[in-house]
Order: sequence, then structure tokens, then C-alpha cells
Amino acid sequence: MIEKLNNVPKIELSVLEEYRAEMSEVDISDLRVLRAQLSNRRDWSTAPVDDLLNEFYSLNGYSCMIRGPLGDTEDMQDRIIATGQLVINEKREVGTVESIVAHKAFRGQGLGRSIMKNLLQAARDRGLSKLELTSSESRVAAHGLYRSLGFEVVGKKQKYDESGNPTHETCLFELSL
Ligand SMILES: CC(C)(COP(=O)(O)OP(=O)(O)OC[C@H]1O[C@@H](n2cnc3c(N)ncnc32)[C@H](O)[C@@H]1OP(=O)(O)O)[C@@H](O)C(=O)NCCC(=O)NCCS
Repeated sequence: MIEKLNNVPKIELSVLEEYRAEMSEVDISDLRVLRAQLSNRRDWSTAPVDDLLNEFYSLNGYSCMIRGPLGDTEDMQDRIIATGQLVINEKREVGTVESIVAHKAFRGQGLGRSIMKNLLQAARDRGLSKLELTSSESRVAAHGLYRSLGFEVVGKKQKYDESGNPTHETCLFELSL
């Protein structure tokens, strides 16, 4: 069920490594929930913290988070309800947008767009020339968002499972800044 956000949620942009160092237990549990909503190829509720965070949070770049209410009680306020990362390759002057996700209960209310816009601005501020991202072809909502921001598909790649059977296609998107 979609819940209406009544107040403008708080948007935070942090340096990935710095945020990792100050992340709270509650943040980690919120990130587990969002990671599971992004991909169910693994049980993220029990995955070691390092597995959850090592992929991006030790890299050069930014994390954008939106905080809002996951419930009525005090402990449910200011929880992470959307997130995404920008990983920067300084040499190539290129950024990769990773794991954009809005909590299922709050989709369609501009959170995904807001995360993307903040990461785009961070990329511009850092003087990057281009943004790249990869996304499964089935992610219709995400592709609508990326296209509306000017991203274009520049290639496709077939993915395979461990036995070599084709599973899905991914699209490589690019945006010149
Ligand atoms: C993709 C995602 C982050 C979008 O977040 P959101 O907060 O629901 O999206 P927004 O409300 O900001 O909408 C932004 C744009 O996305 C597109 N969009 C959003 N929902 C859509 C839907 N159900 N169908 C088609 N396009 C959709 C539209 O272009 C929309 O712009 P509009 O409102 O002007 O039409 C969210 O759907 C999500 O978390 N999906 C699962 C995870 C995922 O697929 N991540 C991408 C990994 S590559």
C-alpha cells in the first residue's frame, strides 16, 4: 500500500566512506530493507554488514538518502526511505549511479527523482563529464525515470546464471553532463 508523505522528507548527501563510519544500527537495518526491495537474489535481512556495505560504501563518491516516517512512533521517524549512490572514477571523470531505490510504501511521490537529481548535481559539482548506469530491462519505472532525466541507452548485455542459461538483459545508460 502506498502511504502519502505529508511533510517534505529530509534529503542528505554524504561522502560514502564518511557516512559508512558514522552509520547507526537503525540506518543499517533500513538499508537492509531497501537492498531487499532492490534485489531479492540474496537474503539481505541476514547478510553480514560488510557484504551489505562493502560493494559501494568503501568507494569514492556520495550517498544520497531521504529520511521520512516509517510509522507513527518516535523511533520510526527520520528513517531511510530512499537511497542511491554515485561512485566516482576520477581518472575517467565518469560517475556510476548505483542502487537507486525508494521504499515500496512511498513510490510514485518523487523520491526516486529527488535522489537522482541530487546525485546529478553532485556529479556536476565534481566536474564529471559523464554518468553511467546499468539496469535490468524489466525495471520499467527506473527506466522511465532515467530517460526523463536525459539518460540514453547506449548498449545492452545478456546476463547468464551459473549454469550458463540466459537470465535477463541489462541496459547500459549514459548521460553527458
Ligand atoms: C525506480 C524507483 C527508484 C523510482 O522511484 P519513485 O520514487 O517511485 O519515482 P518518482 O515518483 O520519483 O518518479 C520519477 C519518474 O519515474 C518514472 N516512474 C515512476 N514510477 C513509474 C511506473 N510505475 N511506471 C513507469 N514509470 C514510472 C516516471 O518517469 C516518473 O516521472 P513522472 O512522475 O514525472 O511521470 C522505484 O520505482 C524503485 O525503487 N524501484 C525498485 C528498485 C529499482 O528498480 N531501482 C533501479 C535500479 S537500476
